[in-house]
Amino acid sequence: MIKYLIFFLGLTILLSNNSSAQKMNEQQIEKKVKELLSKMSLEEKVGQMTQVTLQVVSKKQGTRDQKHELDLAKLEEAIVKYNVGSMLNVYDVAHSLEYWHEIINKIQDIAINKTPNKIPVFYGIDAIHGVTYTKGATLFPQSINMAATFNRDLEEKAGEITSSETRASQIPWNFYPVLDMGRNPLWPRLWETFGEDVYLTTQMGLSYIKGAQGNEMDSDSKLAICLKHFAGYGFPLNGKDRSPAWIGERMMREYFLPPFKAAVEAGAMTVMVNSGENEGIPTHSDYHLLTEILKGEWNFKGFTVSDWEDIKRLYTRDRVADSPKEAVRMAVMAGIDMSMVPMDYSFYEYLLELVKDGKVPISRIDDAVTRILRVKFMVGLFDNPYSKNNNSEVFASPEHSKANLQSARESIILVKNQDSVLPIKKTSKIFVTGPTANLLSVLNGGWTITWQGNEESLYPKEKMTVLEAIESRIGKSNVSYSEGVTFNKDLNTANAIEQAKNSDIIIACIGEPTYCETPGNINNLNLEKAQLNFVKELSKTGKPIVLVMIGGRPRIISEIEKLASGILLAFLPGMEGGTAISEILFGDVNPSGKLPITYPRFVNDFVHYDYKPMEVFDANVFNPQWTFGHGLSYTKFDYSDLSLSSNSISKNENLKVKVNVKNSGVLEGMESVLLYVTDLYGSVSRPVLQLKGFEKISLKPGEQKSIDFTIIPDQLKFIGRDNKEILEAGKFVITVGGLKQEFELK
Ligand code: BGC
Repeated sequence: MIKYLIFFLGLTILLSNNSSAQKMNEQQIEKKVKELLSKMSLEEKVGQMTQVTLQVVSKKQGTRDQKHELDLAKLEEAIVKYNVGSMLNVYDVAHSLEYWHEIINKIQDIAINKTPNKIPVFYGIDAIHGVTYTKGATLFPQSINMAATFNRDLEEKAGEITSSETRASQIPWNFYPVLDMGRNPLWPRLWETFGEDVYLTTQMGLSYIKGAQGNEMDSDSKLAICLKHFAGYGFPLNGKDRSPAWIGERMMREYFLPPFKAAVEAGAMTVMVNSGENEGIPTHSDYHLLTEILKGEWNFKGFTVSDWEDIKRLYTRDRVADSPKEAVRMAVMAGIDMSMVPMDYSFYEYLLELVKDGKVPISRIDDAVTRILRVKFMVGLFDNPYSKNNNSEVFASPEHSKANLQSARESIILVKNQDSVLPIKKTSKIFVTGPTANLLSVLNGGWTITWQGNEESLYPKEKMTVLEAIESRIGKSNVSYSEGVTFNKDLNTANAIEQAKNSDIIIACIGEPTYCETPGNINNLNLEKAQLNFVKELSKTGKPIVLVMIGGRPRIISEIEKLASGILLAFLPGMEGGTAISEILFGDVNPSGKLPITYPRFVNDFVHYDYKPMEVFDANVFNPQWTFGHGLSYTKFDYSDLSLSSNSISKNENLKVKVNVKNSGVLEGMESVLLYVTDLYGSVSRPVLQLKGFEKISLKPGEQKSIDFTIIPDQLKFIGRDNKEILEAGKFVITVGGLKQEFELK
């Protein structure tokens, strides 16, 4: 595993490019933290563990028509009276860069000038696919799309750009990346994940961290990232957000913990806790996970932060605590270092009482505060608490848009192209229709300008919807448009059908409206009836149909799949998504995305690509609409000569794998070469396939490349019956591009 940053090596003595202050090394930081801690009162310590939202210190909510306004008296109350050490979020829509500077300056002014130890406030934000809450930010494809690119460099770049724009907003802490495994397609946060695969999620997470935090989180363009949501959040049994998971420890360690563990080893210093529960234990009270595994086994030196109101919910929702005060005790003793309270000071007051009553030992408080102060030093907050307006000039730069567009292009997946209906000739008469054809919000999803991302009127006018991008690519005269149907209701379809009849080809943009978190819960993964019926009506015209699926989940379209000649899965491709989709439709860009999830064919048939042998035994079959890794191109790639360095290796030997890939078509194209391993026999049932390597390459027509992979013994390990990692001798199969080779581990 590449370690981008190891905590104890992480802070070298380099000169910061934004301040003349010398960066501190780890020993200096530890010394400073100790000194500071020794001067702090109990109240100050508990305040450091308290996080409130901007709303608590605001007079007015920011909206489309009204400017947000801070309440300075309340701000002073938060920081001076309650010693609050951290704040988050907006109230309620994105601010301009300048306004963020004003806010941060006012907050830090009070922290620096009116508190005894002048500890700056740590401001955190959800900059999920770019800086959600800063106007005009570069907003990338969402994680599910970034995973579909199978391109580590693009993900690293997205991390780099997002950090630099978050820092330009004077915010040093980002609640991202999401390392939850997206293994339930109903879950409304699926699109916030890198999909269903452990290896892909880990690799994308590490690439993001490398770009976003690197090994100098105190520089101008980097920041502290926050892993979330630790752990098991992404696999609720019933698919609803914030509902119970039933993941036993073995599966937790095999599927859900590895991305977090790798990220901690790579230097992640903050971790947000899972809002849900697993096996009856609300994670905010899970000592085993938060303290024994994260801080003990993994030696995590940073701090954990609760999710929104989730400590209170141990009492109000889960009823594992019989009072709000007991909830605070439970959470802190389970290992939570900072509470995202975030609407009041109850956590602060209860925790003070608990320490005074001897119910929470001061050693636990000191440990939590040490962790928080350590991160505050590491991120350079003491050197530079104020706005310096450093990278404002690169904010939303053309360079950033270029990287964004490239990400969008590589994130779109062509899953069907019967009779080469795509690419479409630019001279064809096109009928564009459907509820997602002419909205920017649907391309972006939640965490865009507002939490739900659905304020269409606040979207930048210069960005293009699918319809606008098609019109600008081939000229308006050959394009007709009618919405045809809403997300869930028929409109006057007769008019749409008439327009369809007068066209050469129909582009039907269907899918989901925007949503985020629990409001996005659904009861049925089928695409809405109104949209399915509309496509059926369109098909009666006999004109070829290209479906463009837009939305955060794989809504089931098996009823209409056969009616379409071409299908693009665009998921949530971000602000440049309209442009990228139009480029692919008309052949200016050759698609290269591959599915980071298995796309179900039937409701209730959610089988992942890494299914277990019994899932294809007897009458059981693996029959998804499209499997993980599926994705077509306008050119053709041929795989040959899969070879292994040896057909038997020992437990401390690496295996080298080689394969040739040739572009045998007439167009240049990119291909993600995916390497899978099958462990043929194991003491615990093994998945039939597991992704263990991928490389994205670009090939000109006729060009051939030889791709090398190295499989290290660690990658052949799994979690045994005793919940411990084991490496078992036996036979394995390597599969690349349909070719197979067997080897033995001795
Ligand atoms: C979400 C987190 C987010 C937090 C702060 C919660 O509702 O679950 O992902 O970071 O809010 O906005």
